[in-house]
Order: sequence, then structure tokens, then C-alpha cells
Amino acid sequence: MKKSMLLVLAMVFVLACALPAAAKDYKVGVAIYQFDDNFMTLYRNELKSYFDELSAAGEDKYDVTIVDGKNDMAEQSNQIDNFITQGVDVIILNLVQTSSADAIIDKIVAAEIPCILINREPLGDNGDESYAGILDNAGVCYVGADARQSGTFQGEIVAELENHGDINGDGKISYIMIEGDPENIDAQYRTEFSVKALTDAGYEVECLDDQVGNWAQAKGQELCANALSKYGDAVEVVFCNNDAMALGAAAAIQAAGRKVGEDIYLLGVDALAECVEMVNNGEMTGTVLNDHVGQSHAAVDAAVAALNGEELQNYYWVDYVKVTAK
Ligand code: GAL
Repeated sequence: MKKSMLLVLAMVFVLACALPAAAKDYKVGVAIYQFDDNFMTLYRNELKSYFDELSAAGEDKYDVTIVDGKNDMAEQSNQIDNFITQGVDVIILNLVQTSSADAIIDKIVAAEIPCILINREPLGDNGDESYAGILDNAGVCYVGADARQSGTFQGEIVAELENHGDINGDGKISYIMIEGDPENIDAQYRTEFSVKALTDAGYEVECLDDQVGNWAQAKGQELCANALSKYGDAVEVVFCNNDAMALGAAAAIQAAGRKVGEDIYLLGVDALAECVEMVNNGEMTGTVLNDHVGQSHAAVDAAVAALNGEELQNYYWVDYVKVTAK
């Protein structure tokens, strides 16, 4: 090759290296288990606005499509097929059913699309960690909060009360439990660890009632109303796996003529704005911040890292925070 030719090639190479990488337009598919969920609504709105912020601030643009799984696994499976056909560059997935994780993730991995699992941690057969087969796939990770911590915080809030939740002084804390969707590890762990925090601290507990409210406010109200009419003053503590159900329970408590902080205690998780206000007004005993801002930003950051070809960790954890009256 002639010397002049080599020189031209070298100059082209140097110029190419000096130029900024071409801006990219990425298609992002977000599948939410159900839009009709207070906490996941905050979460998905924050996901979208953080992607928009990144699009506005940088060269790369993120075209985000968010779909509603309507709590129907078949519907969500179709939505994932559509994302794959549309050729999205990354998928953020809030599974309807974690037991279907294998089948769904297999499709996404086969299409070589990175996948960021959020909010519902798929568990392995041993029940205590994410299914390793899923997270071992490069390009698949889980972003969430360790639900054991939220349950523990609920129990600790009760333990830290002057009477430790034993209003009638009979030596035991009599509670009712209102659970989220029992397939979610968040519901299982919050149910277990709220009570464990009390027994670990040496308090005796008595479970009067334990029912499934599926994260829904109306169901929380109905279950709490039933339990209050059945067990009356014996109910000292109402543990709800989330704030939506606690909002329902608060209405039932008021309708039954009971008063939070005086003859009953009420706990939730999520720290919805209205519940934080109720905690400060004394209408709820406490809640636990489920950090939708931290989690959604961590999910977006993981998606962007995957788009940039970076290796993902298996897990990205965000802490819960205890919320009691200021
Ligand atoms: C939980 C949250 C609930 C509900 C659920 C959905 O983390 O506390 O309110 O949104 O996720 O999976």
C-alpha cells in the first residue's frame, strides 16, 4: 500500500475515534402486572419520567411503551410476544405470575433482548432466592427491595410502642393480618417477618385472623370490617401487607368506632403520600417506605447499562425505610 494511502487511512481512524459515538434511538418495552395498583402506578410514572429526563439530557433517546398486564398472565405473555416482534431493545418486566417466569424469560433470552425484572422476585424451588437459572442469563437481572426488611420494620414499630401493642394488658399482642397476593414474596415475607420481629423481641403474639386482600383497598376494608365485627376489642394490631389495604382497613376501623393509637394500631407498607399524612395525623401507627423512586431509577440505570453492552449484576437492591409520626 502506498505511503499516502496509509496516511489517509490513519487520519480517518484518528477522526473516527475523536468523534462522539452516534446518538441512538432505543425502544423500551415496559410490562406492568396491573395498572390498577397504587404503588405500581407511582413506580411506572417515575420510570417514564426518568427515561424522559435521560432522553432530554443526553444524546440517546428512549422511546418507552408501557403496557397493562391487567393481572392476567396470558395477556402479559402476548404483550411480551408483541415487544419481541416489534424489536424492542430492552424489556422491563413486572411479572403477573412469578411462577411463569421461566417460560417468559426463555422467550426474551432467545430473542437476545436484555430483561430487567422488577417488583416481583421470581423464586426458585427452594423458595429463598431468585431462580438462579433465570438470573444466570447474561442480560437478565432483578431490581427490588428485600421484603423481609419491610416486615421486620412493621413489627419493630409495634415493639417500640410504649405498650408494645398489648393494649388490654393480657400479656400478648393479638393481631389480624391482611395479606397481598400470596404468590408474591412481598406478601409472604411481610406476613412472616412482621410477626417474627415481635417474637424475636420476646413478645407473645396471637393471630386472630389472616386473610388475603390481594393488595386491594376495597378488599382490605371488607376483611378488616369482618374481623372487627367478629373479634371486636380483642383486635389490638392490624397488619396490612401494603398501604392500599391499610387505607381500606382505616375506613373499617373508623366505621367500627375504634380509634388508632388509642384502642387499636394500624400498619402498612409503601408510604403512599396519603398514608404518610395519616401516620403524621395519628390515623395510622406506621408504614414503611417502599422506595419507588430508588427502585425505578435503579431499573432504568440497569436497562441503560444493558443497552450500552455492560455486564449486569444479578440483583440490585434498594432499602426500605421505617415511617412513624414526625
Ligand atoms: C408491593 C407493594 C404493593 C403492590 C405489590 C405488587 O411491593 O407494596 O403495594 O404494589 O408490590 O406486586
